[in-house]
Amino acid sequence: GKGNYRHFMEKELHEHPIVLGDTLRQHIDPASRAVALPPLPFDPAVVPKITLSACGSAFLAAQVGRYWMEQVARIPVDSDVASELRYRDPPLPEGGAALLVSQSGETADTLAVLRLLKQRRQHVLSVVNVAESTMDRESHGTLLTIAGPEIGVASTKAFTAQLAVLATMALGFGRSRGVLSVQEEARLTAALLEVPAHAATLLEHTEEVQALARQVAMAKDVLFLGRGSLYPIALEGALKLKELSYIHAEGYAAGEMKHGPIALIDQDVPVIALCPSGPLFEKTASNLQEAAARGGRVMAFTDQEGASSLRRFAEAVVVLPTVDPFVAPILHAIPVQMLAYHVAVLKGTDVDQPRNLAKAVTVE
Ligand code: M6R
Repeated sequence: GKGNYRHFMEKELHEHPIVLGDTLRQHIDPASRAVALPPLPFDPAVVPKITLSACGSAFLAAQVGRYWMEQVARIPVDSDVASELRYRDPPLPEGGAALLVSQSGETADTLAVLRLLKQRRQHVLSVVNVAESTMDRESHGTLLTIAGPEIGVASTKAFTAQLAVLATMALGFGRSRGVLSVQEEARLTAALLEVPAHAATLLEHTEEVQALARQVAMAKDVLFLGRGSLYPIALEGALKLKELSYIHAEGYAAGEMKHGPIALIDQDVPVIALCPSGPLFEKTASNLQEAAARGGRVMAFTDQEGASSLRRFAEAVVVLPTVDPFVAPILHAIPVQMLAYHVAVLKGTDVDQPRNLAKAVTVE
């Protein structure tokens, strides 16, 4: 049941800390801060390429995984939504790996890609939440997310659990390929292991997100912007808002704004920015300043360090805990889910069962 919560989604949002902790501790030893992945269907040290695929939010988690694997493991990665990949049928190297991500393990397009890539002699590893699902059974190997049953149609805890597995995997791959030192591995696993506690802190501070939600609930169009590994989280923020509140929202790479979408900006369009401090901060901040200069209402999620400079032009700034840039996408995913939840509550939509949507899309 929902316990004391109004919706399954609210309950599932509050399960982030426990789910992230359980999922991370599967393959990270907190004492040595080393990653120990189980035997995989391919050797990450020599794999020529990984093809990543999934649908919806699971695909956006995979996109963050792509940034991580390129960054800390230097593995060539191709990724595409399953409904495209299955018909693109790209050339694949001998001995290549496929990595599929799915909460249900039953999504029709993802399953079709699994079967296609197996036929094309790729070594298929899946990240699924439901053990014994079709994808679990048909893959050469599976890593589980320990999110427990997710009832709300909008993915919340399963999404962040997917990120936790993909981050762990990227670090493990980085070690096997000799591109990540033991010290770097320890530093980044430590940052990951702190995420559950930060998630708990975030969930206690709902007032600021609710204040933002009151603004967003009045809008007809909303833009989400992010750069690097925060770009897929911007897309996820837009997806969540659309599916839960039926407000038109779009996610963009911050640097793409001036190539078109900036024309949409006026005082009625909230621009939700995911902008933690780090190597890309100044770049994103200057894109946001451009939006503000055109009357855009910038509302930013950032950290203490980022807040001081964004406050000069942003209408609202929500300060998240300061973390290593590597884990920032996991932490930023939570308030964008909370935002969509609160907007939906204000709009009175069916939070757990949005119109026209199914929890598992088992037909093409
Ligand atoms: O079960 P899956 O993870 O394969 O499902 C994929 C998508 O259908 C799913 O993530 C969908 O986008 C959610 N409604 C997002 O909240």
